[in-house]
Amino acid sequence: MTQQILLTPGPLTTRIETRQAMLRDWGSRDPAFIALTAELRTRLLAVAEGGPTHACVPLQGSGTFIVEAVLATLLRPADKLLVLVNGAYGERIAAIARRMGRAVEILRWPEDRPVEAARVAAALRADPGVTHVALVHCETTTGLLNPLAGIAAAVADAGRHLLLDAMSSFGAIDIDLRTLPLTAVMASSNKCLEGVPGIGFALIEPAALAAAEGVSPSLSLDLHAQWRGLEKDGQWRFTPPVQVVAALVEALRLLDAEGGPPARLARYDGNCRTLVAGMRRLGFELYLEEALQAPIIATFRMPRDFPLGFAAFYDALAARGFLIYPGKLTQAETFRIGCIGAIDRQDIQRLLAAVEATLAAPEGA
Ligand SMILES: Cc1ncc(COP(=O)(O)O)c(C=O)c1O
Repeated sequence: MTQQILLTPGPLTTRIETRQAMLRDWGSRDPAFIALTAELRTRLLAVAEGGPTHACVPLQGSGTFIVEAVLATLLRPADKLLVLVNGAYGERIAAIARRMGRAVEILRWPEDRPVEAARVAAALRADPGVTHVALVHCETTTGLLNPLAGIAAAVADAGRHLLLDAMSSFGAIDIDLRTLPLTAVMASSNKCLEGVPGIGFALIEPAALAAAEGVSPSLSLDLHAQWRGLEKDGQWRFTPPVQVVAALVEALRLLDAEGGPPARLARYDGNCRTLVAGMRRLGFELYLEEALQAPIIATFRMPRDFPLGFAAFYDALAARGFLIYPGKLTQAETFRIGCIGAIDRQDIQRLLAAVEATLAAPEGA
């Protein structure tokens, strides 16, 4: 079967070795699977150099599940969360914390502007009641990369905890826990790690986990209990997605073989540059200023005189073997093309040829 190329923010195109790793059955309480889980946790920590400072707690489910689990586990009823928002995933963090009944403040920026550390520092000075701050590293809504180091320093200087949604950056964009003061980092299996969907995980400071006993209002999303269980006997508390674990371990071995996050970033960067230059040549403008664009997913404006609606454009490209992604902006008509996954510049060049062919014969689309 010929595979379509997924130019999406995950699930995305994976390597054949990763999918093949799912062909075996595993007993969830068997020593072989316990060893696989241990390798998974060690490798995830190593991606962010977090072995000495953090503990890895994996959880069944998609990225939103791990965000919800981290908030449930680390925010006590008397705590207050400041959410830094410049896109839909920041809004989602605030919605989750509110739904849990936690006190939430929001600091907002327009969708095409980065979070500013100075404004965060001022907000923390003005409100000593804020205990935790949440930031989305790469806002997948647009593909904007927020300036993590400055924001992390501002939060640490104010003595608060920073919770980082690194869903679409982890594995490619540098997150070094030896130098970055982060209480928790959250990500999932199916983005820059190039695994299949089904696992979220968090790297959390053990002191924060240890202090969180009995805090979570949810049993299944309690990461303190999940961590204690894993530390006790290496087992997941509830049925683990065994094949997804096997695929993710294989994907992490492949990440290592590629040269780790710097090599992966270089490949994604090549994809993104090729894409942006080629799309520009075909008349599509990037939504963001180029300096703010992470090489993860690019947002393009729908040209005013474009002969096709998004659905027809999508179908025409799908028929040629490429799946693109709709826009998620409140303010502008856009669509998105992912640069991540097991794809390279040749795939992007083939996509550009497919876009050009579609534009040449829009009535046939
Ligand atoms: C930055 C960010 N946070 C959270 C999520 C939610 O992840 P999921 O859709 O896997 O629940 C996504 C998904 O794209 C994301 O990009």
